[in-house]
Amino acid sequence: VGYRAQRWNPRFLGMMHPAHDLYLRLLCKSLSNLIYGPVPPDPWNDGLYRRDAIPGRDRQSPAHTMVGVLRLANLCALTQRVIDSDIPGDLIETGVWRGGCCILMRGVLAANSVHDRKVYVADSFQGLPPPRPHMFPQDAGVTLHTIPELAVSLDAVKANFLRYDLLDDQVVFVQGFFSDTLPSIDAKQFSLIRLDGDMYESTYVALENLYPKLSKGGFVIIDDYGAIDQCKKAVTDYRNKMGITEAIQHSDWTEIWWRKAS
Ligand SMILES: C[S@@+](CC[C@H](N)C(=O)[O-])C[C@H]1O[C@@H](n2cnc3c(N)ncnc32)[C@H](O)[C@@H]1O
Repeated sequence: VGYRAQRWNPRFLGMMHPAHDLYLRLLCKSLSNLIYGPVPPDPWNDGLYRRDAIPGRDRQSPAHTMVGVLRLANLCALTQRVIDSDIPGDLIETGVWRGGCCILMRGVLAANSVHDRKVYVADSFQGLPPPRPHMFPQDAGVTLHTIPELAVSLDAVKANFLRYDLLDDQVVFVQGFFSDTLPSIDAKQFSLIRLDGDMYESTYVALENLYPKLSKGGFVIIDDYGAIDQCKKAVTDYRNKMGITEAIQHSDWTEIWWRKAS
């Protein structure tokens, strides 16, 4: 499988302006390491080639995101819809790893000359927390906190933003475990929330603290819904508790999103 198989689908954007679309397409390809890097195997998928999963699912890849091209395209498109539809509020990702998705959101703002929205970058910057089964029994036995490759320092993430000339005061870093930071986050309103914290606790706590601040017409994206049972359960529990009935959309084999109706 070579690079020809990974050609970007130009329909992901509205083709507003050729330079705008070319910049964002190149940004996505750079973040995914599709320009210079070799195509890695996908060790989490029995070695089978999956166009939607490369290259980040190989954690040895130098890519600045592990989400793959279809999820990047979706994030790009929904961020653009927020701007085009004037949905008020800032943007946030909870669980950023090397920062690629947040860099992309900042890039979409830059491509549209948007100066009045911020991108919140929320992570412990030291990996996942150990499970707390007494509070979140669904996470019992989860060992993601033992994976050193999932811990990326704040300095390393800032350095990645700098590589793209996208580090400025429209980027806000929120350092710490979500249960400590999200209840007092200073943002008043969000237009897009992207949740990529893998565990039940990380997903539920993010929904509980951020979904009420999501504007009507705003988007919630959940990265791990199809991949991790605990994440799916957290989403299901929160939707049931809050009576959320908006239809779930699928971006690829794991990511889902929906648009808040009211
Ligand atoms: C799968 S990675 C995120 C991938 C990233 N979105 C990307 O584009 O490649 C999960 C991240 O979530 C963070 N994380 C998970 N649970 C967390 C929590 N409860 N508090 C803070 N950070 C958390 C980890 O530190 C890690 O950086």
